[in-house]
Amino acid sequence: MTERTRYDQARWTTDGEYEPLLSEKDSTRVEIGDDSPLPDELTRDGLELPERSEPELARHYTRLSQMVYGIDVGPYPLGSCTMKYNPKFTEDVAALPSAQVHPDRSEKSIQGTLELLYRLQDYLGRIGGMDAVTLQPPAGAAGEFVGIRVATAYHDHNGEGDRDEVIVPESAHGTNFATAALCGYDVVSLPSDEEGRVDLEALEAALSENTAALMLTNPNTLGLFERDIVEIAEMVHDVGGLLYYDGANLNALLGQARPGDMGFDVMHYNVHKTFATPHGGGGPGAGPVGVVSDLEAFLPAPRVRRRERASERSRETGADNDGAGDGASASERPFELFDPDHTIGHVHGFQGNWLVLVKAFAYIARLGDEGLEDASAKAVLNANYLASRIEYDVPYGPFHHEFVASAGEQDAADVAKRMLDFGVHPPTTKWPEIVPEALMTEPTEVESKGTLDQLAAAFNAVVGEDDETIETAPNHTAAGRIDQTSAARNPRLSWHALEDGDE
Ligand SMILES: Cc1ncc(COP(=O)(O)O)c(C=O)c1O
Repeated sequence: MTERTRYDQARWTTDGEYEPLLSEKDSTRVEIGDDSPLPDELTRDGLELPERSEPELARHYTRLSQMVYGIDVGPYPLGSCTMKYNPKFTEDVAALPSAQVHPDRSEKSIQGTLELLYRLQDYLGRIGGMDAVTLQPPAGAAGEFVGIRVATAYHDHNGEGDRDEVIVPESAHGTNFATAALCGYDVVSLPSDEEGRVDLEALEAALSENTAALMLTNPNTLGLFERDIVEIAEMVHDVGGLLYYDGANLNALLGQARPGDMGFDVMHYNVHKTFATPHGGGGPGAGPVGVVSDLEAFLPAPRVRRRERASERSRETGADNDGAGDGASASERPFELFDPDHTIGHVHGFQGNWLVLVKAFAYIARLGDEGLEDASAKAVLNANYLASRIEYDVPYGPFHHEFVASAGEQDAADVAKRMLDFGVHPPTTKWPEIVPEALMTEPTEVESKGTLDQLAAAFNAVVGEDDETIETAPNHTAAGRIDQTSAARNPRLSWHALEDGDE
């Protein structure tokens, strides 16, 4: 058994106070001239700026970084909320001068940008088995919202706007319930069967002519593949409903199976969980949405397409001008933006979060078919290896990319805080609720056997530890346990200097 890591996080304090913010250090007042064209009430005469030499500035930020835990320090096995490693080469690609395009530039001058977006739409469509993709939504949750709005527009268009229910499994992510409610639906919660999968009898009872959609993730939140997915799809389609795929768990399936082939009609892709982009905490990330051809006309505007017909026309007629009015030939300007016929409208400025999309594109292009397939296979192998090494009870299984262990008599939140003392980030806790004191764990494909053993050692170190040690943890990190009740009841959401009497 690997020995657990000895960990003491740097703690930079002066007189008991943490490294002060730059604005708390000495500052100089800089006067601003009064020649601003803005009205007086919108201008100021001067401002305080911190006075720091370059080495002081570099040390300040280095010290702060030493008091932070991140994926460049150690593993980050958050189940479902996956923090997939962001490879450095994708950052390099996004930093290329040619990637720095102003979104307001003319279509003619951003043909390279449009081609990248077009190819990314195509990659994602092929990976998911979907006919059309929008890249606009800025996060997975935003993608869900767009996907269900598209489903609503489809039903309305077919004169079936009175469908008012969306079915969501009880183990689903909170955003599924929130999305359905936000789109105005009654949410019907679906119980799991004894194996942790969709209960087909309960589904039969829940489905009706009121069903607009069933939202599913596969593998599900317990990391289990929904073996009856083809039957489930048929049941939903038989009542005229749509099947929505929450792409959060697509990292388990790349190159192995496609939601479109399973019968899903609409899906979102969590590019931060699957294609190694930064998360952005609900945005600014990216959560593209894919749909089958029946739903394509309802996607948000604008999308990117290749002007094939125009170029064919100009080839046939020998004309250089494709009729777009700017004198450019289709061969010079092969890509264009367009609004789908029955679009639900704009859901984001321009074409989405461009630089995040560049990173997703670079990752997919670099890995290729074989690399993506291999990433999924290793993600599944790593989850199953780690599950087999930990001493906590792991109900259900065998798993795909993640598993949910139970902390049993211990409080999962205490276990998580204690794991921080061993130099690892803990798993997602207390969800899904069908596993008591859940420790939902997803190591992802990037971790080596050595790191998985280190993670297992951290889990196992906490098993059976005395209550006092666990309940006071973490003790080896820069910041200790916070008062969670005060943080929730009296949150301080913006910085201000502490005054006498502040806590
Ligand atoms: C299963 C599932 N669905 C949806 C989401 C929402 O994705 P995002 O955080 O990108 O908004 C998450 C986020 O962790 C998730 O785990």
